[in-house]
Amino acid sequence: AQDKRESLYVLSQWAGKFFKQHLWETDSGRSIALSYFKERGYRDDIIKKFDLGYSPDQWTALVDAAKKDGFQESYLSDIGLAIERDDKSLYDRFRGRVIFPIHNLTGRIIGFGGRTLKTEKSTPKYVNSPESEIYHKSDVLYGLNHAKKAVMDADLCYLVEGYADVIAMHQAGVENVVSSSGTSLTTGQIKLISRFTKNVVILYDGDAAGIKASLRGTDMLLEEGLNVKVLLFPDGNDPDSYIKQVGSAAFIAYIAAHQEDFIFYKTHILLKDAKDDPIKRAEVIRDVVESIALIPDEIKVSVFIRQCSSLLDIEERVLLTELNKIRINKAKAQ
Ligand code: CTP
Ligand code: MN
Ligand code: MN
Ligand code: MN
Ligand code: MN
Repeated sequence: AQDKRESLYVLSQWAGKFFKQHLWETDSGRSIALSYFKERGYRDDIIKKFDLGYSPDQWTALVDAAKKDGFQESYLSDIGLAIERDDKSLYDRFRGRVIFPIHNLTGRIIGFGGRTLKTEKSTPKYVNSPESEIYHKSDVLYGLNHAKKAVMDADLCYLVEGYADVIAMHQAGVENVVSSSGTSLTTGQIKLISRFTKNVVILYDGDAAGIKASLRGTDMLLEEGLNVKVLLFPDGNDPDSYIKQVGSAAFIAYIAAHQEDFIFYKTHILLKDAKDDPIKRAEVIRDVVESIALIPDEIKVSVFIRQCSSLLDIEERVLLTELNKIRINKAKAQ
């Protein structure tokens, strides 16, 4: 079994090289894919650092090349580089896409994300490697292999949604950044971060999905004992698009100035909807206290209860009663 895993790593590495060669050394790669990265503003050194590639727009380019190089066909489908037809023949999963290899902590390739170059909504924007013996999605953070030192140095980790956000932030000089790549944040991913720092700043996309994911992510991070700040970009931007819009220096200044402690962030977001409706305001208070109740550290809990009290203009005593109610209900439910 160990031998097989090793073979799957070798095959992944080989595929990474295959995609890279097609990006840099073929006419179609250069004219279609390299120019795409350039249009997005990515520098050559960054494209190389992240091992970006291109999968040719053919049905069996990778399968054929892998067979020619002596790889076992079943391994191709085991790690999802190939998909099996009813007649057992194989075809490439990634076709005509720019490729973002996914590395584990030690820098070995374990999977791939492939972005379409088409603009029509009918094609899925990203195709990703499936779970496999070497790729357990809930325990992987995109970019962590490059970020871990910077995360430790800064004692802080930025958490973003997408591959492109990690890469654009690196290029802007902010290297302590990782992405959960579409899958909603898992406990395994949080435990991974907390090996390197207890401080997380969520920089999700400034759209409805990003807001929702930021609130859920906040609660999960709090529950694991991490300190959470949040910042969402204006007008639906994500870190990548915002860097492109305002430039690296203004981006860095913006994130320094606008990140908010989770309690301010959550309160502001929820109060926007509640306006002056007293019933809705009461719901906001309960909702914020519910997040505070997740925090394992009692000292932090009392600090946040005090902040919440002044923020929402509610007596601390009332909030503490609510906190205890939530805790009793949770204990009952267990
Ligand atoms: N994602 C995915 N499949 C999709 C859409 C998204 O796996 N059909 C994942 C990708 O990892 C993507 C992340 O979710 O990077 C965030 O999605 P989104 O914000 O839609 O994409 P961006 O990363 O902003 O992609 P781009 O800037 O290239 O448009
Ligand atoms: Mn690398
Ligand atoms: Mn998004
Ligand atoms: Mn995005
Ligand atoms: Mn984007």
